[in-house]
Amino acid sequence: MDRLSRNTELQSRKEQATARGVSVLTKVFAARAQNAEIWDVEGNRYIDFAGGIGVLATGHCHPRVIAAAQAQLGKFTHTCWQVMPYPGYVELAEKLNRLAPGAFPKKTALFSTGAEGVENAVKIARVATGRSGVVSFTGAFHGRTMMAMALTGKVAPYKTGFGPFPAEVFHAPFPIELHGTSVEQAIEGVERLFKADIDPARTAAVIIEPVQGEGGFYAISPAFAQALRALCDRHGIVFIADEVQTGAGRTGTWLACEQWGVAPDMITMAKSMAGGFPISAVIGKAELMDKPGPGGLGGTYAGSPLACAAALAVLDVFEEEKLLDRSKAIGERLVAGLKKIAASHKAIQDVRGLGAMVAIELFKDGDLSKPDADLTKRLCAEAARRGLILLSCGSYANVVRVLVPLTASDALIEEGLAVMADSFKAVA
Ligand SMILES: Cc1ncc(COP(=O)(O)O)c(C=O)c1O
Repeated sequence: MDRLSRNTELQSRKEQATARGVSVLTKVFAARAQNAEIWDVEGNRYIDFAGGIGVLATGHCHPRVIAAAQAQLGKFTHTCWQVMPYPGYVELAEKLNRLAPGAFPKKTALFSTGAEGVENAVKIARVATGRSGVVSFTGAFHGRTMMAMALTGKVAPYKTGFGPFPAEVFHAPFPIELHGTSVEQAIEGVERLFKADIDPARTAAVIIEPVQGEGGFYAISPAFAQALRALCDRHGIVFIADEVQTGAGRTGTWLACEQWGVAPDMITMAKSMAGGFPISAVIGKAELMDKPGPGGLGGTYAGSPLACAAALAVLDVFEEEKLLDRSKAIGERLVAGLKKIAASHKAIQDVRGLGAMVAIELFKDGDLSKPDADLTKRLCAEAARRGLILLSCGSYANVVRVLVPLTASDALIEEGLAVMADSFKAVA
């Protein structure tokens, strides 16, 4: 079978056998991957600027992570933590507790996906406060389960047709200066919610992403985080940072909320914490985390031994390879390279980043009132055709984001940037 037909044949079988609701970016199929490169079933090479949507801070198949998983495979794969516990879960919880900001005792519960982490953070906040309301933000993405969808602040495609959603969820405006919402307006928005929609005394939690991920890579300022902290303190509300995409070193610190100057009460993590093995965590104030009764939290596969072993190896890799420094350096390199591209393309009106969480935003003729989703789509398709995996995001689908592994070499990042520049020239 020749090279071209293998991808085409799989694509046609995929269309027959799999649900279209799970949409797929590329039309080529992975055969193997290493660090920041993927090879498809026809042997074509791709530079991976998507990192499995922010899962591969330590790159594909990091030898330390694979060795840890293999060692665990040789012992046991599953007991169910709730039936017979194992040391890896305890060790991981201890380390995550130590790494989270806040001068108070912490505890951790492990799950399998980001959405599951979010669901459980809300469950814990409700039990701990005896209240039901939850405030999230416009443009937010918190996952695809029912409560996570309710919290998500973007209708199409995530919520279309899937309602009704759990009640008592309210969206406040997320501060994005570029789109006309200031920090002051955003705070006023929360206060307006408390007047118009939900009594703060009935509000269990405020949940926010330190940098909106699917929403478009907009970071909140420390000032906004501090204002939310003060608001939550005033009303006895649990402050949750959803660090599913920002966590595990992406923004230059282990957790993005370390840069706020105030600590949230609870943090959700997933994605890059285990280098590709499914696991998520809720890390929080011990007094809150212990409020749900025995049996109220958990899951058959939650905190699986394989994922715990991989997550512990990821933490070792971060230390040994100084990946937090690398995250900052990669971020600077990307921003500099993208600014150079932006200098010759009027469409790129913003280049932004927190650590290695970097994005550009595209507008028709550079007009900020005309987000250019079409150009964004064509750019990502052209990049893929030229061997670079690039993701878009944003409430207006006009943002191109980079989530390259933090283990990628400077040479590979430069090669990726050059493909981006060529792709722009081809489609702009
Ligand atoms: C901030 C945030 N929260 C939650 C989720 C959901 O995670 P998962 O897809 O693992 O359920 C995501 C996924 O992109 C995310 O970016």
